Amino acid sequence: MKTVLTKSAVQAAEIIKAGGIAAFPTETVYGLGANIFDAAAVGKIFAAKGRPADNPLIAHIAEIDDISLVVKELTAFAEKLAEAFFPAPLTLVLPKNERVPLIATANLDTIGVRQPRHEIALDLIKACGFPLAAPSANLSGNPSPTDWQSVYADLQGKIEAILQGDVTEIGLESTVVDCTGEHPQVLRRGAITLEELRRVVPQTIYAPPDSAAEKRSPGLKYRHYAPQAKVVLIESEDEIENAENCAYIGLKKINAPFIETKICASVEEYAHELFRFFRRADDKAAEKIYCQKVSEKGLGAALTDRLQRAASANN
Ligand code: TXA
Ligand code: MG
Repeated sequence: MKTVLTKSAVQAAEIIKAGGIAAFPTETVYGLGANIFDAAAVGKIFAAKGRPADNPLIAHIAEIDDISLVVKELTAFAEKLAEAFFPAPLTLVLPKNERVPLIATANLDTIGVRQPRHEIALDLIKACGFPLAAPSANLSGNPSPTDWQSVYADLQGKIEAILQGDVTEIGLESTVVDCTGEHPQVLRRGAITLEELRRVVPQTIYAPPDSAAEKRSPGLKYRHYAPQAKVVLIESEDEIENAENCAYIGLKKINAPFIETKICASVEEYAHELFRFFRRADDKAAEKIYCQKVSEKGLGAALTDRLQRAASANN
């Protein structure tokens, strides 16, 4: 299959409407979209990514009211969160309706819904006229793609099209909040922080990694966010044994002969650059990637989460 590269949301929508799958930019990472109501098209996503069948997809909608296209009931908490934040890097897990095929939700009776805050993504969904089931547009196990070139490197020849946009704004995947229980519960940390969620729904709680609640987000158990190189988290440069054949990313400048280095001016820039840096280091066959730890304030909480997952994925 030849993968079409296009800047036209209308052209990508035609491909998806004909039962194809196409990658598209969002404010978090690139997604790989199919008609959520077309089980065969959704199946192609799992095949192209090599994604385990028990890892559910997120429904991407263009309008807040379109939540009802995929959801059975909007809980009171979820309605508050959607109204306060959408469009946003935020996914709300709710009871699914019967129209959504079970393959999209990996047999769960719930579905994650998100209205992205990205013009091209919204244009694409509107041009399709139905919600898009979309995971991140990487091969399963690789870091999420934050530019179309990374999508191309992973999925070229396996998907019908890539809708080309810029490098994604945030660089980390959306915050996932389970709204099916007594209180909203954060299953995956992202750019919408726990503090921000609590300002709208104070009862919101956080499911720490490896808790029973986190296990309700099946994707989190898989090797994720991880490059081929071994990721080592450091607080100070004394922890660097050897810079040779190694890469370094962080806020603090370290003078050592790394084969690839990225000094970031802020936590936001660090998050924005991390997954691309992982891919660059792998392209150079780095043995180790040293990553400076950051404080868990604001976006630092989500960044710390991804750094820790990457570091524990390949020990
Ligand atoms: O920012 C994002 O969320 C990006 C863009 C493309 O929107 N998408 C993304 O999708 O990161 P994916 O499939 O790579 O990650 C989806 C996460 C997984 O951890 C999955 O287990 C969880 O959301 N998830 C999806 N549906 C769920 C459900 N019904 N219940 C619990 N967790 C769910
Ligand atoms: Mg993913």
